[in-house]
Amino acid sequence: MFKTPKGTTDILPEEQKYWSYIRKIACQTAEFFGYERLDTPLIEEAALFWRGVGQGTDIAEKEMYVFKDKSGTEIALKPEGTAPACRAYLQHGMSSRPQPVRLYYLSPAFRYERPQSGRQRQHHQVGFEAIGDASPITDAETISLAWQFFQTLGLNDIFIVLNSIGCPECRPGYLAMLKEYYDRYKSSLCPDCQARLIKNPLRLLDCKNENCQSIAEEAPKSFEHLCPECEEHFIQLRSYLDSLGLPFILSHRLVRGLDYYTRTVFEVQPKAEGAQSTLGGGGRYDNLIKELGGPPTPGVGFAAGIERIVLNIKKEEICVPDLPRPMIYLAHSQAGDEALKLAKILRENLIGVVSASGQKSLKAQLRQADALNVTYTVIIGEEEIKNGTVGLRNMATSEQKTISRDSLIEKIKEGLVDKTL
Ligand code: HAM
Repeated sequence: MFKTPKGTTDILPEEQKYWSYIRKIACQTAEFFGYERLDTPLIEEAALFWRGVGQGTDIAEKEMYVFKDKSGTEIALKPEGTAPACRAYLQHGMSSRPQPVRLYYLSPAFRYERPQSGRQRQHHQVGFEAIGDASPITDAETISLAWQFFQTLGLNDIFIVLNSIGCPECRPGYLAMLKEYYDRYKSSLCPDCQARLIKNPLRLLDCKNENCQSIAEEAPKSFEHLCPECEEHFIQLRSYLDSLGLPFILSHRLVRGLDYYTRTVFEVQPKAEGAQSTLGGGGRYDNLIKELGGPPTPGVGFAAGIERIVLNIKKEEICVPDLPRPMIYLAHSQAGDEALKLAKILRENLIGVVSASGQKSLKAQLRQADALNVTYTVIIGEEEIKNGTVGLRNMATSEQKTISRDSLIEKIKEGLVDKTL
């Protein structure tokens, strides 16, 4: 029997209410902050991510699904949404629109990771990008958007972790300091960190190994070694966050797994668990568009993982509205033709109908109606056809009446106001 590929899942009907709820609040939040929807393809040229996300990152190096298409072009399933949003910004000349251009997306993302709870090979992101503005006010707005999104979902037990990792001016000096510090501990680092020391020293700071963590705790802090411009940007951002009353903790160990970040980086985490369960993250990427071949254009954004949000909503037992269901169950015996026609008329009158199928007994049909949680069951059989009537049963009270077929729609619509028959 075929199964979903490792690290992917089906989203079954009973799960859909969570997804619908999250998507709805994502769109609503986007609207409140003036973000417009952008959909980009699931596939992009792989080079977009090698250049954008960075050759040295786990995502670009180890986790991307890459294949050659029939023309020999190397194509990737998108591992994230920021580089595609910047590609779209450039491709469609969005620099001529009022800046920043605020875009949001809901999209699957693919990463060949070791699957575990909240970590999949196909996951889904909701992301927000503000492209074309360098001011710290836009960073504050992005963080405030992320905060409002989670609060509206009902996820209140969360906190923001914040850092600034500087710019190409100040980062080389900081990295040299970091390397010098880590060189002292070289022999006690885990094998991954020994490699990071050469390839990507920033990532030494977020190693999950216990021993490496205690070394990272005492390491030089990027936000204490910023150039004057980055420092001013970070001071202003923190003062905006204070004015907004947004609680954040500073952590020099927050560096994020993508190479495009400059200055601000942040994550939103649930209080109950550690960084493994990060709900969302983002930051500023002032050099990304230039890296992709465009003019220097700053940007800042944030993305959250929908699977992780669903896990947390369930864990916190947040009440999520049920999806709308048809109101009517149409039970019938020996009346297939008439039942089909009646269902058609009801639906044309915007009344949702689930029609019984097959040869079930009336009792079995009523049981199914009960299970479907409909408001009314309409019953039609030989007798009713002959008399031009139908049975109408209120499922909440089990009260049942015979009414003329012509008055059915009116009766149901009346019932929308007064649920008694
Ligand atoms: P990211 O932190 O790699 O950032 O992913 C964003 C969120 O997607 C994570 O916080 C997590 O909730 C979820 N996520 C990531 N990988 C997985 C996975 N394998 N399984 C389940 N959920 C996952 C980005 O992708 C950036 N593009 C965010 C951004 C937008 N930065 C600026 N703008």
